[in-house]
Parts: sequence; structure tokens; C-alpha cells
Amino acid sequence: MHTPVRRVLLIAAAVCAVALAGTAQTAAAEGNGLAATPPMGWNDWYSSYCSVSAQLVELTAQEMAGNGMKAAGYDYVNIDDCWMAPSRDAAGNLVPDPTRFPNGIAPVAAYVHSLGMKLGIYEDAGTTTCAHLPGSYGHEAQDAATFAAWGVDYVKYDRCNIPYTDFPGESEQQVQQTLYTRMSDALKATGRPMIFSMCNPDPGDDPWLWGAPISNLWRTTTDIEDNFGSMLGNFEGTVGLYRDAGPGAWNDPDLLQIGNGGSSLLEYTSEFSLWAEMAAPLIASTNIGTLTAAERAIYENSNVIAVDQDPLGRPGVPISRADGLWVMTKTLSDGSRAVLLFNSTNTAATIATTATAVGLPARRVYGMQNLWTNAVSQTGGGITAFVPGHGVAMFRVSVEPKRHTTKLPPHTVLSLNAADTQLDAGQSTTLYESLTNNGVSDVKKVVLSLAAWPGWQVKPLGRTRLPLLAAGQRFTVGYRITAPASGPPLAMSIFSGGASFDPPDGRHTSSARLGELVSAPVPAPLATADVTTHPASFGAVGRGLAISARGLGVFNPPFGAAQTDSYAAIYRPGGAARNSSAEVTVTSDPAAGPQGGAGLIERDRMTAPKRSPEAVVLYVSGNATVVMAWNASGGGDVDQHTTVPSVTVKAPVGLRLVRRGHVYTGYYSTDRGKTWNPVGTVTVAASASAGRQDVGVFHSSGLSTWTTTASFTNFRAR
Ligand code: GLA
Repeated sequence: MHTPVRRVLLIAAAVCAVALAGTAQTAAAEGNGLAATPPMGWNDWYSSYCSVSAQLVELTAQEMAGNGMKAAGYDYVNIDDCWMAPSRDAAGNLVPDPTRFPNGIAPVAAYVHSLGMKLGIYEDAGTTTCAHLPGSYGHEAQDAATFAAWGVDYVKYDRCNIPYTDFPGESEQQVQQTLYTRMSDALKATGRPMIFSMCNPDPGDDPWLWGAPISNLWRTTTDIEDNFGSMLGNFEGTVGLYRDAGPGAWNDPDLLQIGNGGSSLLEYTSEFSLWAEMAAPLIASTNIGTLTAAERAIYENSNVIAVDQDPLGRPGVPISRADGLWVMTKTLSDGSRAVLLFNSTNTAATIATTATAVGLPARRVYGMQNLWTNAVSQTGGGITAFVPGHGVAMFRVSVEPKRHTTKLPPHTVLSLNAADTQLDAGQSTTLYESLTNNGVSDVKKVVLSLAAWPGWQVKPLGRTRLPLLAAGQRFTVGYRITAPASGPPLAMSIFSGGASFDPPDGRHTSSARLGELVSAPVPAPLATADVTTHPASFGAVGRGLAISARGLGVFNPPFGAAQTDSYAAIYRPGGAARNSSAEVTVTSDPAAGPQGGAGLIERDRMTAPKRSPEAVVLYVSGNATVVMAWNASGGGDVDQHTTVPSVTVKAPVGLRLVRRGHVYTGYYSTDRGKTWNPVGTVTVAASASAGRQDVGVFHSSGLSTWTTTASFTNFRAR
């Protein structure tokens, strides 16, 4: 506990910090006095899309009131698109969908209010919403009055179908400013307090530059998907905008996906932590009734919610992000810092910073609380965690008087680190295991151990016990590890490190896990090509092939945007003659977006993408469709594409590419080759399809910061 004098000093320091850091934006925040801290609640979109109903909204409110979420701070229950009938009434009023909202919106609002919660609704600045229902364009005052009369407390306002041609000579951003200001004013004119949430995150909209005076939050990034790559993309697109948000005016990286089933609990924990550190709205977009206890525990973590809702309202600041290892610090109103260590890579890694680097004054000792485990400790300044790939560690670090901290255990960290994180079958490397004592007191009787999966050989290279590890010191043991002589094309093995030791308050244990990727080398006549910015891995055993890679793919939609050429391939040099055919089955394809994926590629020279024109790619994309893209113009890259309409495919997917001179036909099969469905027959520019070509399988994750592994079988080129 702080002494009264210290508390006064801390408050003084905090006030001073606000005065220094206050930006023009937050000073000019929306004058409706709402959203002093980021809004919290629920939105139906990602669980229900266009099937939202009064019943769903009321049931959800009831569940949140009963399951602890309302008590944790989730008080807005928000209806997204599709609540309306297809046309307005004779007087031009919006009409709720008569089957899904049979009694209208007002009774739903009244019910939600009776539970002590608030109701949100959705509209659009254009002539129609994104789902093509009546928009508010030209009806702003009327619709605002309707919402107020119904008892609405929150309006999300979208940007689909804005008639930009009504505003000749104005940029899209200028038109949006006009229309969003119109609705903002209309809402204020009703006299009913309503949060105004802008949803216009398209490139060039830049709402963070102009949204604060008229709205309480604005979307920063594209619609989120329930996968790590999409979450990472929206985080990366928002985290740098920390100067633009503050009380009353927040950056919104889109709705929380926790509970929707597409990510791991570890990834959902990261999403929640990152959103809280950025002071983003915490709005769950999932089926609340089917959340597991573990998912609810994420939503209801009061330590992390307190970081998000801290009254100072300062978004966290990224202080380093080298190699995808992020350190962020968020100044809290009591002068402490919420420190987030986020590992966006696939491999566990040690992330370290210091108390002064996160903005605390230089002191001999600090107190730390782990916001996910609740463990408390003392540190002399080092803030370190061994963080699993896609995971986070989150601490509250504060200056504490010495007498409070001497009773706490020292902040110790067990970490693993290998000289090579990837080995060929049968190869050896050295793995290091370290226990670091960041505390200001010693730990005693340290014992380290390392366990490996079957087939590995492990030999310690030094002693694994130490009688005393002094404050600020590290104890490291090396092990010679040798991979099994045979296995699948690419396989991850897990090493588990363990430490036990005696801090002043009894025996402690720690554990740490590290993956080693073992690959079976790709044999000739196949070759490998890696034109990504991060080393890819390749493996081959029998008919199985695997590629682990990042990369934005071979085109960057929308077509016309800068070409990317960032993929990894296993291929047959010169394997595609003028009359030839290539075939493969994609057996797994984790990737993001339309540009990420796995499939077949033909080009003049696989390893020289800047000098050799691309001919054709045929692949299963990150959004589970089959895409064929080709070079029609004779430029350096593919410039046309076709997608199989309204088809969602699931691995295994067969792909076949048949070449007849300059004409290529793509097919796919989802029934193990019984039927082959055409994707397209396309003519490639003669200059890009002259003679023999390299042909192979390729993979790109769809993001330059995210590695995924695709696997294939039965690749043939004839
Ligand atoms: C847009 C928005 C989403 C959602 C849908 C509804 O895509 O960005 O958040 O509101 O419209 O149609």
C-alpha cells in the first residue's frame, strides 16, 4: 500500500504527465461527455450476422447480467447491421424487421435498460447499409430522433454506399467528414446521450486524424477475422495511433473474437491484452451463452480490464518491436505502468525490458504483478518473460517502498534458446536453458532440467545445479540435442525446461517450452525457392511436401496495388514444357486473406521473381476459395485473377494446371480427384510463357509477420 504522502506525489506526477502528453485530438474530444473510458459490451455481428433478433439481443443481455460480464463492466448490448426492414415507412421512418424485431426496438431497449445495461444500434452514412438496407443519407435528423425516441444509447455508423458523386470535387474523406458530422450533430440535437461510433476504416479515410471532435470511437482497421493473422494485422494497424486517442475518443481495431473458435486460448488472451493495452473498446462479438469458462475468464480478467479502463485514458506506447517481439508500456493513473510483452512470432522467445525503459523513475526496487497469473514479485529493474509464440506476458510495474518489496519473491525467469530452431533429421545443435534472477534478493539451491520428446538425444554440457543465484545474475546450462533420424517432412518437437529453487518464501518451480522444427531435406530433382523476407523451411518425405513460410503472396489485392512476390516454393526446374500438366493435393493451408494460400505456380525462373515474369498461380486462398491469377499483359507479374464464385473449400483440395502453349486451364477437386471442376482457362502473355518453365508448389501466409506451414501430397509435373 502507498503511504498518503506517496500517493499525493504519485497523483501529482500523473497529473503532470497528462498535462504534458495531452494531444490536440483528445483535448477536442467529442463534446457529448460519453466514453470517458473505452466502451465495453457486446455486438452481435460476428456471431449472428444478418440473423440478429430481439430474442437474441434480450437473451444476450440476460446472460451478461447473470454470468459476471455486466459486473465486469460490459454494459453496452449492440445491434449491428440487418435489424431493419428493406424500406422506410410512408413518412420516411426506419422500420425494424417485422419478423426478427416484431415489437420494434423500443421494448428491446426498455428490457436492456431494466437490466441496468444500454442498447446500441447500427446505421450507415450512405443511401444503404453494407447489407443494402436503408441508410441514413438525407434522413440524419429523422433517424437520430427515432433512435432517441426508442431509447438507444450508442450508434455505430458505417460508410457503405455513400453517394460520393453528390459532392463533386470533394475527396471521399471530405464527404465522410461532412456526413459523419451531420449525424454527430443530429444525435446531439436529440438531447439523449448516445455514444457515436464511426465505422469507416478504408484506406485514405484516416478517421483518427479528424474523428475526435465529432465521435467517441472510430475504426482504424478492416473487418477483423477470427484468426491470429487478422488480429495481428488489426493490432499492427492501430498500435502506432496512440497519440490520436484519449478520453472520449478511442481507436477501434474492431470487435473481440474470443469465443468464436478460430483461435487458441493463448491467442485470445493475446487479443484481449493487446486491445486493453491500446485502450481499445472491449466489445465481445460472440455467442455469450456458449462461452467456455476459460473464455469467460479472459473476458472477465479484472486486472486487464482495469488497464483498458484506466481513468487516465492513455493508450499504450510501443517501445520496441524488433523481430516481431513487442514491448509496450501504458501509463496508468496511479503512476504505475502496464507493461505488455507480446511475441508475434511462432517461436517462444525471451522478451526483456527495464523499469526505466517503460518510463518509471530510476529506483533500487520495483513491485510487479503478473496480470494473468496474479503472481507478485520484486525486481531491481529487469522486466523479462519467456513468451510462447503468439502469446503475451502482461505486468503492472510500480515504484514501491523497499519495506513492501522485501517480503516478495524475486522476479525470476526460466528461458530456453537454441542455436538453431530448425534442424535436418539427425542433426545436432546446442540448446541453452537459463534462469535469470531479476530480483534484489538471492535464490538458492537452483536445479535445472530439460525433457525432450521421444527420439531425441539430450546431453548436458555442464552442471545443472547451483547453490546460489545472486540478485541480478543468470545461470545458464547448455545441452547438446540431436534430432531423430527420420520423421515427417516438417515436424515440431517440444522441449520442456524445468527449474526449482528456494527464494526467501519457500521452494518455487518454473517451466518453459521451446519448439524445434525438424525437416527432411528436399531431394533432387526438386529444388526450393524462398523469396520472402524471413527464412522459410522446406521438407519432403515420400510423396509429402511441406513449406513453412511468411509472405504476402504473388499479388496484393486489390489488383493494381504494388506487387509483392513474396512466397516460398518447392519446384521442378524447367518441369513445365509447352504442353504439360501439373497436379498437387493441398492437405493443409493455414493463411490469411485472399493473397495468402498454397497451390501451384509456374514461371520462367522461380528464384528470380524480379527478373522472371510470373505466368500463372492456382491456389487455395486464406479465405478458403480457389484463386487463379495470371500474367495477361506481359509485365513482370500476374495482373488478372479469377475466383471460383461462392465456393468455400476445405483441405484436402486437389489442384491441376494444364498448359497448352500460352493457354492454361486450372481445375480443382474436393473429392480426392474423382471430379475436377474448372477454375478458368486463361491466356498468358507470350513473353511470360515462351519456353519451358519452372513448376512447383508454393505457400505464403498472407502476412509478412506471420509464419504458417502448408502441406501437400502427390505433386506431379508431366
Ligand atoms: C461493415 C462493417 C462491419 C459490419 C458490417 C455490417 O463491413 O465494417 O463492422 O458492421 O459492415 O454489414
